[in-house]
Amino acid sequence: MEFLYRLIVYLHVGSAVFSIGPFIILIPIVKKLRAADEKVQQAYLDIIKYTIRLIKHAGHVLVGSGALLIIMGPWTWKTSWIIATLIVMFGSVLFLARAFTPTMRIFHESTQNQPALIKNLLRSTWLYLILLMIMLWFMVAKPVLW
Ligand code: HEM
Repeated sequence: MEFLYRLIVYLHVGSAVFSIGPFIILIPIVKKLRAADEKVQQAYLDIIKYTIRLIKHAGHVLVGSGALLIIMGPWTWKTSWIIATLIVMFGSVLFLARAFTPTMRIFHESTQNQPALIKNLLRSTWLYLILLMIMLWFMVAKPVLW
């Protein structure tokens, strides 16, 4: 049981790496969308879509393994740093779904609007990165908030 718990912590931390890491790559790629011609732009958009899909899968493993850790370990759903993480997480999941997917979909439809869309994508990427780093702090420092 002890080994299994450690294994799930490992899986949990691994999926945190795959949830946060790809976002760092998105920042320079989104910036490059500005100057690229249509073909190159499509290649960048494909990378962005693939990255978002990867982040979503890693996020599911993160939540699944997190839930298992609560069930198996000494922490409960009432622990304050876990509640804080859940609040930030549900907020950011809703935000991710709204900010990225629709923007990606309309990108080719409105060519004049592209600078604004790129600005939006860049802002969303930074914001999501900051939210992930806040959750990472709750998880690592385990602060008693109330
Ligand atoms: C459904 C949401 C989540 C739940 C229920 C959850 C649950 C937990 C629990 C119970 C532990 C403690 C394991 C232990 O040391 O015994 C833990 C550790 C950890 N979690 Fe989460 N987690 C969640 C989301 C996240 C997110 C979003 C991140 C990253 C952004 C994250 C990153 C980590 C890391 C890095 C550790 C290891 C910390 C350490 O051992 O010092 N978790 N998680």
